[in-house]
This record gives sequence, C-alpha cells and structure tokens, in this order.
Amino acid sequence: MLVSSTLDLSRQRGFITSIRNETGRLLASLAASRTGTLAELGTGCGVGSAWLSSGAPKGAHVVSAELDPALAEDVQKIFANTDNVDVIAGDWSTLEKYAPFSLLFVDVRDVMESIDVLADLMEPGGIVVLDDFVPSAFWPPIVEGRVDTVRERWLTDSRFAAVEMLIDVDASLIMATRR
Ligand SMILES: C[S@@+](CC[C@H](N)C(=O)[O-])C[C@H]1O[C@@H](n2cnc3c(N)ncnc32)[C@H](O)[C@@H]1O
Repeated sequence: MLVSSTLDLSRQRGFITSIRNETGRLLASLAASRTGTLAELGTGCGVGSAWLSSGAPKGAHVVSAELDPALAEDVQKIFANTDNVDVIAGDWSTLEKYAPFSLLFVDVRDVMESIDVLADLMEPGGIVVLDDFVPSAFWPPIVEGRVDTVRERWLTDSRFAAVEMLIDVDASLIMATRR
C-alpha cells in the first residue's frame, strides 16, 4: 500500500514531520467527495499524497510540491506507477498553474500566511486543510504566550467557512471551505 511505503521512507530518512494517520484519514475521506485537481503544498515523504490518492475518485488528480529536490525524487519513485499523483520538485508556487483546486492541503507553515493567494487558487466549494496547529482554549488562540494570528485570520476570513478540528489532545487542523 502506498501509505506504508511513504511511512517506510519517513522512517528511513528520520523524517518526523509526516502527517498523523488521523489527518491522513480525514484527507482521504475529503478527497472521496472531490473532483478535478487536489493539491498539496509540502510533500515531505509523501504520506499526505498517498492518503489523498487512496481517497480520490476516478478522474480526480493529485499534485504535490516539495522544495527539497532529493526528497521529491525519492517520493516520485514511490508514485512512479500511480496515475493520479504527480510530485513536483520546487516551491509551492509552481502549483499555481494547476489551479483551481477542489481540495488544497497546506502543510508548510509560512505558506499559510498567504491567505489571499490561496483563496484565489480555490474553486467555489473547494476545501483548504491546514495542518499543525496546537489546540488553544482561548480566543484569540494563544500559543507560547502569543496570539496565533494565522489561525485567527483563517477562522475569521469572510471568503471561507472554517472550523478548527482536534486531531489529538496536542494537535489540531483547520478546514476552510471557499464560499
Ligand atoms: C510538514 S512537512 C510535510 C509533510 C507531508 N505533507 C506529509 O503528508 O507527511 C513540510 C514539507 O514542506 C517542504 N517545504 C518547505 N517549504 C516549502 C516550499 N516553499 N514549497 C514546497 N515545499 C516546501 C519541506 O521540505 C517539508 O518536506
């Protein structure tokens, strides 16, 4: 199975920031409701791409960008015989040409700040998933004594209907649907 191969690569490389199974299952279930182009910013070892591929219906296509060329090459080998996934070596912005997206998984923290650019890449009803938040009991959300302005912005932007979901006691993500 593709997910196992990408987890093996994560272990071999000592890559500790691959997504959790809970996030992967969410991506697969969302992917199953999508058509057209699904994108991922920050491929890592390909775990998210594998989950997206497993859920995507026939005819839908997954594109993922990874900045580290050697890592991208390793992941490309895993997906060499998978028709519905393309892993591109390069900055996330190289995926703009594949827009509009029906689903966008953003897994690079800096990129989350580019909400205006990302909003324009989405088709109406398209879903953005942003990973790697630390749950906060406060509003506005506070992490390590500072307001998490990125999270605050995504949860209040009028272009999206958004929700923060707990993945575990120590991890959450944001799901934002483009109006
Ligand atoms: C949290 S990891 C991604 C985990 C992966 N999405 C998964 O499903 O397991 C973030 C990845 O983004 C890559 N990255 C960082 N900046 C990037 C950029 N500007 N464009 C594309 N990828 C980037 C890093 O090299 C790293 O592999």
